[in-house]
Amino acid sequence: MTRAFVVGHPIGHSRSPLIHGHWLHEHGIAGSYERIDVTPEAFPGFLASLRENGFAGGNVTIPHKEAAFRLVESLTPRAAKIGAVNTLFFDGSERLCGDNTDAPGFIAHLDQTLGSNWTERGAGTALVLGAGGAARAIVVGLLERGLSRIRVANRTLDRAEALAALDPARVEAVAWRDLPTALAHTGLLVNTTSLGMVGHPPLTLDLIDLPEDAAVADIVYAPLETPLLAAARARGLSAVDGLGMLLHQAVPGFARWFRVTPSVTPELRARIVADL
Ligand code: ATR
Repeated sequence: MTRAFVVGHPIGHSRSPLIHGHWLHEHGIAGSYERIDVTPEAFPGFLASLRENGFAGGNVTIPHKEAAFRLVESLTPRAAKIGAVNTLFFDGSERLCGDNTDAPGFIAHLDQTLGSNWTERGAGTALVLGAGGAARAIVVGLLERGLSRIRVANRTLDRAEALAALDPARVEAVAWRDLPTALAHTGLLVNTTSLGMVGHPPLTLDLIDLPEDAAVADIVYAPLETPLLAAARARGLSAVDGLGMLLHQAVPGFARWFRVTPSVTPELRARIVADL
């Protein structure tokens, strides 16, 4: 029986067991996907014991994503660029390899929701709000997808500048106060800050300057309809919620461990929404 896991600390909040459990059942696979709570002190030992415990791999969540990046035996090029690992598997040489599937997960959800030509909106421009780990994964995803201009706005400008260093020719840091100007040249607006999340203040941004064909995406999924997405819909813009990224980022890991590529279906989405 193939075993996989999600490891974090704490781990009770993770929806990953529901997602992978749904797919295991759907495909009739006799495997397991286990929720494992491991402290930062115990994390290196946990990784070292994966083979002897018969795990094919698993997901890594807060607070271990950067530690996993440092401790694995090999990295996918994408994880190397992002500097964080959310998916572990054993590669062809049986080395513990770290991948980051947040970037392709975000892009896959946009493709599924908006159609693959969303990259033409606003002449291939995006504005990313926030400059933390999630923003880094999304900027890498947008670069891989070929966007010509990506602006990053962050309350702390230094962090946006550090992100822009990923590809200075295509990524530019903008000050938070210059957002209204940046909005006018944006085909895709993405919120990666914690603003709008349950228990946090809302993101209050006047979307009036966004072009008419712009799309607005939030990676916050609790609540599913954030004030930002509500404002986008009120303006008649395409709105993309954060749940899709969570579902799509799970696909590559499942495919690697269980050798079946699962789909993100309306049934799976409904199942997770019921649990939010
Ligand atoms: P993650 O790794 O999950 O992306 P993070 O590194 O804590 O999380 O980043 C959170 C993001 O939300 C940051 O961009 C943060 O801005 P700072 O870099 O200036 O801290 C942003 N953020 C959090 N609270 C904010 C607020 N009240 N106003 C504006 N941005 C905020």
